[in-house]
Order: sequence, then structure tokens, then C-alpha cells
Amino acid sequence: MTSVTVKAPGKINLALQVGPKNSAGYHDLLTVFQAVDVWETLTAEDAAEFSLTVSGDVVLDEIPLDESNLVIAAARAVQRVTGHGGAASFHVDKKVPVGGGMAGGSADAAAALIAVDALWGTNLSQVQLLELASELGSDVPFMLEGYTQIGRGRGHLLDAIESLPFFWVVVPQPLHLSTPLVYSTLDELRGDGSPALPASPSQGLLDALFAGEAHALAPELVNDLAAPALALAPQIQSVLDLGAQLGALAGMVSGSGPTCVFLAEDANHQARLADGFDTEGHYALCASSPARGAHLLRG
Ligand code: C5P
Repeated sequence: MTSVTVKAPGKINLALQVGPKNSAGYHDLLTVFQAVDVWETLTAEDAAEFSLTVSGDVVLDEIPLDESNLVIAAARAVQRVTGHGGAASFHVDKKVPVGGGMAGGSADAAAALIAVDALWGTNLSQVQLLELASELGSDVPFMLEGYTQIGRGRGHLLDAIESLPFFWVVVPQPLHLSTPLVYSTLDELRGDGSPALPASPSQGLLDALFAGEAHALAPELVNDLAAPALALAPQIQSVLDLGAQLGALAGMVSGSGPTCVFLAEDANHQARLADGFDTEGHYALCASSPARGAHLLRG
């Protein structure tokens, strides 16, 4: 094989509950991840040296194209554990907003793991890929698995759960929020007290997902990172308010933000909601969930 293409989805967190910071500097989480059908497309070709280019209709200027990009870090990680001596040139066509709380960079890393494993014929197992993924970033294992998963630990310990489809409108924002800054702002807002994490997501959330009931899901959506994201970017409150005005069942900050996501009743309601944002001058995209994780496109 001299060239392979891999697709990887964006994600939203339906529930994101943040516990205390541990000694490694990470916060313990209880989250429910869901992959959405907003796709990153990564192509990898055999080459003498590593290189990376990006394209797409999202803001691209803050993406590093050197070894600090998780795509090249992922390829280096595969080299390290397999001893493979090759390199690759990568191209990523991006649809997931950059620095937006939807894990686009983590999706690219997951895509790169699968791509070089196929390109180089190194045949890593899913367990090995998940181990490398969790070294690369807390959200990368989820991007390999996709669909709907409870995340614990840093978010890297996953348990699959069932979900019927849901319909969302994603409204990216023209700014980036740094994930470490959002977490440290949460610590500042909380002072000394971090609430203990529940052992599991609420039964109401799990039941709503299983039954595909958008009205029942709406009141279950929680995000502890919304308060710090709003403290850092107060202007996103007006986007959340607009979503409520337009009749979204619920609106929330996605992950560490600042992208906002809105829950619709069904595909028709989703289209009307997206039109409403458009009319008010906001770029909005329709997304449905759950979507599969990073996967190789065949031939
Ligand atoms: O794991 P990842 O490299 O994506 O995390 C980026 C940063 O986000 C971490 O360095 C940390 O500051 C913060 N983080 C955290 N707790 C988590 C996940 C991320 O504090 N569970």
C-alpha cells in the first residue's frame, strides 16, 4: 500500500462532570462522549520524511504543521513501538472546528494511528492502538472507538453504551479556547472545593439515549466546563440565548468550548434551527449522532 485514507468524527460531551485535579495535573472525569458525523479526512502516503498539510472550511491558521502536531506524534508513537523505519506525508481535510471543544486534533491523531498502521502493515491490535492513543491525549481513545461511551479517569477509560440517533446543530465560534486554561479557570472558580464525582451518569441520561428521546435527553445535558468557558468568552452566552429563542430543546457549550451545540427534536427541526442561526448571521452545521470512530476507507 502506498496511500491510505482514514475518516474520524468530531465529538460532543453529553455530560461532562469534572472532579478534583490529580497529582499528574489532570482532572478526574465522568463524561458521556458521543461521536457526531462531522468528519476529518486524513490521507497518508509513503514518503522519505514526515510532512503535514491541512485544508478545510474551518479556521486553519492556529494548526501547527511540525512535529508538535498530534498527527506526526501519532506516527512517531507507532514507529517507537513497532520499530518501523518509514515516514509518511499527511494531508488532513478538516471539518471539525479547530480549538472548539469537539476534539478535532484528537480525531486527527486517531486517524493517523490507523493510517500508518495500515500503510506500514504493522498490524497493531486495538488494545495497542488504544494504549498509544491514551498517551497522545485524553480524548484520542474515544476517537478510535466512536459511537457513545462513558469516559472515566482522564476521559481515556471507556465503556460503550447504547444510543439511538440524535440531531444537533453545531455553531462554531470565531475564537479558540485553550483546554488547560479552561480547566485551570474552573479550579479558580471553585476555589478549594471540587465536588465528588458520581460513579455513573444519571439513569435519566442513559434511559433517554437508549430510547432515542430527545425531549428526555434535553434536561440531562450537563457540562462543568461551561462556566469557565463562559467566564473566558462571555460572548458565547448570546449564542446560547439565541438557540433557546429559536426553539432548541437544549443548548450547551461543547467540551471545553467555545463551540456551542443545540439539540433538535428530529431532522426537520434540526434543519429549521440551522436556518434560524443562518438567518441571524451564524455559521451552523447539522450533525447527527452517534457516529462510528476513526476508520479506514477501503479502495
Ligand atoms: O490529555 P490532553 O493532552 O488532551 O489534555 C490537555 C490538557 O487539558 C491537560 O494538560 C490538562 O491541563 C487538561 N486536562 C485536565 N483533565 C483532563 C483532561 C485534560 O486537566 N481529564
